[in-house]
Amino acid sequence: MTNVRGSMKFFVFIMIWLPALALAQNSPASRNKEEINKIHQDAQTYISMLENPQRDAEQKPEEVIKSLNIKKGDFIADIGAGSGYFAFRFARHVGASGRIYAVDINPDMILHLNRHIRDTGINNVATVLSEANDPLLSANSINLFFVCNTWHHISDQSRYLTLMRKILKPGGRIVIVDYKKEELPVGPPPDMKMAREEVINGMQAAGFRLSREHSFLPYQYFLEFR
Ligand SMILES: C[S@@+](CC[C@H](N)C(=O)[O-])C[C@H]1O[C@@H](n2cnc3c(N)ncnc32)[C@H](O)[C@@H]1O
Repeated sequence: MTNVRGSMKFFVFIMIWLPALALAQNSPASRNKEEINKIHQDAQTYISMLENPQRDAEQKPEEVIKSLNIKKGDFIADIGAGSGYFAFRFARHVGASGRIYAVDINPDMILHLNRHIRDTGINNVATVLSEANDPLLSANSINLFFVCNTWHHISDQSRYLTLMRKILKPGGRIVIVDYKKEELPVGPPPDMKMAREEVINGMQAAGFRLSREHSFLPYQYFLEFR
């Protein structure tokens, strides 16, 4: 009897703690450089972290999308699309006449995106395996560049912006969402991030002006340029 009770207690303990542990491992919690680099090398862990449902509370994807005023027929390039967290949500807003280019340099992310497109039958998302400093998109083809938690990864931003300018249609926008350069309960450590002012200065030097800014995200700046 004691043994049965003991086993039951162990079973209940495992049932409660295992899922919690699994979630914690993939949670969007703050991490040091070593942990971040390790996650970047393991696509499955990276994807689970990006898709963790706990992320929605701070990333507020539907509010972000609402504030972008996306129109049916828009062509959006999601630079550093990762698991497709935003790309597949955008796809619901641009309709059949619009298109999302999910751009990423990581072939494992592109494979994941391609599988999702095949399995769901979504037909307005195209993937692009890009180069580190070139999104490989055609001139005059995009209404909105959306760059979430990725701008700080791009090493030659000045070259990237020159290319983005050619790729944007007249009146097009670049939106950058990234972690504030401070200690936060989520995301990378401060030395892996770019300050809001640094982003704005770089954009202005390339001829873009800050046209809108949203402040409802707790840990990220959300900047729109034209
Ligand atoms: C932190 S994840 C963000 C993913 C997605 N934007 C999101 O918010 O869920 C960064 C992504 O950018 C990609 N990436 C890194 N450097 C890049 C570059 N130079 N060009 C395009 N993608 C890049 C990585 O492979 C990764 O998928």
